[in-house]
Amino acid sequence: MSDAQLIARLQAENDALRAELEETNQGVLALYAELDIQAEQLRQASDLKSRFLSYMSHEFRTPLGSILSITGLLTDELDGPLSQEQHRQVTFISTATRELSDMVDDLLDLAKIEAGRITISPAWFDMLDLFAALRGMFRPIVDVTAVDLIFEEPVGLPRLYTDDKKLAQILRNFISNALKFTTRGEVRVSAELLGNDMIRFAVNDTGIGIAQELLGTLFEDFAQVDSPLQKRLRGTGLGLSLCKRFAMLLGGEVGVHSEPGVGSCFFVIIPLALAQENVDET
Ligand SMILES: Nc1ncnc2c1ncn2[C@@H]1O[C@H](COP(=O)(O)OP(=O)(O)OP(=O)(O)O)[C@@H](O)[C@H]1O
Ligand SMILES: [Mg+2]
Repeated sequence: MSDAQLIARLQAENDALRAELEETNQGVLALYAELDIQAEQLRQASDLKSRFLSYMSHEFRTPLGSILSITGLLTDELDGPLSQEQHRQVTFISTATRELSDMVDDLLDLAKIEAGRITISPAWFDMLDLFAALRGMFRPIVDVTAVDLIFEEPVGLPRLYTDDKKLAQILRNFISNALKFTTRGEVRVSAELLGNDMIRFAVNDTGIGIAQELLGTLFEDFAQVDSPLQKRLRGTGLGLSLCKRFAMLLGGEVGVHSEPGVGSCFFVIIPLALAQENVDET
């Protein structure tokens, strides 16, 4: 091969390489552009989530709050007496508004968890105080039902270091469900140590129970079991899904046993003391 031929071949190879590089370059540029588009879409999704959160908290909660306070003024008859019928109507308005506002609160909590905006703030507290607060919260409901709500004395349990508000929210959901789906007998709340570092809270009821095959999906969003009792009751089916997510935030888990016609046991198992990494993961 002559020098000239060699140079020509090298030149050709060089040209081919350059063309290939050029193509690769264009490919990379196209990929970059695609990434940009996807990043923009992600930004938009996260914007939407934030906007949804602020709509929910401001645009929904504020007017609901005003309706509640105005119905409060009306039933207190500060602007003059109401007829019996008017009383009944105003009570309808405030009950419906309270239900709507509970629903908005649940949705807001879910959206906040999804957006990673829920903060866990652990503190030391005593089980006795938590049970006392829950007992007070349910007293007005228990007073008008035939079902007993029993809090077993938490004996020999150490103080907990966790987010007591989240734990209370989990137990409140369990207890309010148990009271909803129990027409006679009792709802029993208890706590026991599991090993050295875990605690298990259980809410047992003597209510309608849940069929085995439905237990698996119970903790998903909007899951509700069809039953004659269900038709009379309101609810969105978000309570248990929130319980599950809160329990995970507290480093634990939820579970259920149930037997139709006999009763259900909903429980949550969490660490006695919340590990530091869970606190930062907000
Ligand atoms: N203790 C229980 N006994 C029988 N069924 C239950 C019990 N707890 C929950 N369930 C069933 O699980 C469903 C889901 O419960 P969840 O708390 O998620 O929703 P909800 O109570 O219907 O509505 P929300 O809590 O959002 O107001 C209930 O609708 C009911 O069918
Ligand atoms: Mg519920």
